Amino acid sequence: MSVDIQIATEATDELRDALATLLPQLSSSPPPTSDELAVLVADPGSVLFVARLGGRIVGSLTLVLYRIPTGLKAWIEDVVVDESARGHGIGELLNRAALDEAQRHGAKAVSLTSRPSREAANRLYQRIGFTIRETNVYRYDL
Ligand SMILES: CC(C)(COP(=O)(O)OP(=O)(O)OC[C@H]1O[C@@H](n2cnc3c(N)ncnc32)[C@H](O)[C@@H]1OP(=O)(O)O)[C@@H](O)C(=O)NCCC(=O)NCCS
Repeated sequence: MSVDIQIATEATDELRDALATLLPQLSSSPPPTSDELAVLVADPGSVLFVARLGGRIVGSLTLVLYRIPTGLKAWIEDVVVDESARGHGIGELLNRAALDEAQRHGAKAVSLTSRPSREAANRLYQRIGFTIRETNVYRYDL
C-alpha cells in the first residue's frame, strides 16, 4: 500500500477522528475539538502533516515556524504513527516532508525534543540526521 504525506488544510471530521485515535498514543493531553482543529489548520505558523496509508490517516506531525530577531525558527512537534503502521518508514517520511517544508520557508535548522525513553523516536531522529544539542530545556508550568 502506498503512503501519501499531505498538509491538512481543512478541519474535517475525518481529521478530528484520526487525531483522536493517534494523539493518545503520544500524550495524555486531550485531542483537539473541531473548533480547535480549525484554528490550527488556519494558523500560518503551524503546518499539520498527515500520513495516509491506503487512504487512511495513520500518522501526523506538526511543523511550527516562527520569526525571532535571530531568524526564522522551526520546530517539529507531536510526531505520532498509529501502532498498526509503525516500522515501515512512515515516521521518517513525515519528518522528511517537514524538513523540506521548513527549508522551503527559509529556515536554517529544525529542532525537536524527545524523551530518552522514546527509543524508536530517538533512533529515528538520529538516523535521519538530527544531532543532540547540548542545551538545557526548561519549562515553566502555568
Ligand atoms: C516514533 C514513531 C513516530 C516512529 O514511527 P514509524 O513510522 O514507526 O517510524 P519508522 O518506521 O520511520 O522508524 C521507526 C523505528 O522503529 C523500528 N520499528 C520496527 N518495527 C516497529 C514496530 N512494530 N513498532 C515500533 N517501531 C518499530 C523501525 O525499524 C525503526 O527503527 P530504526 O530507526 O532502528 O530502523 C512511532 O514509533 C510512534 O508514534 N511512537 C509513539 C509516539 C512517539 O514516541 N512519538 C515521538 C515523540 S518525540
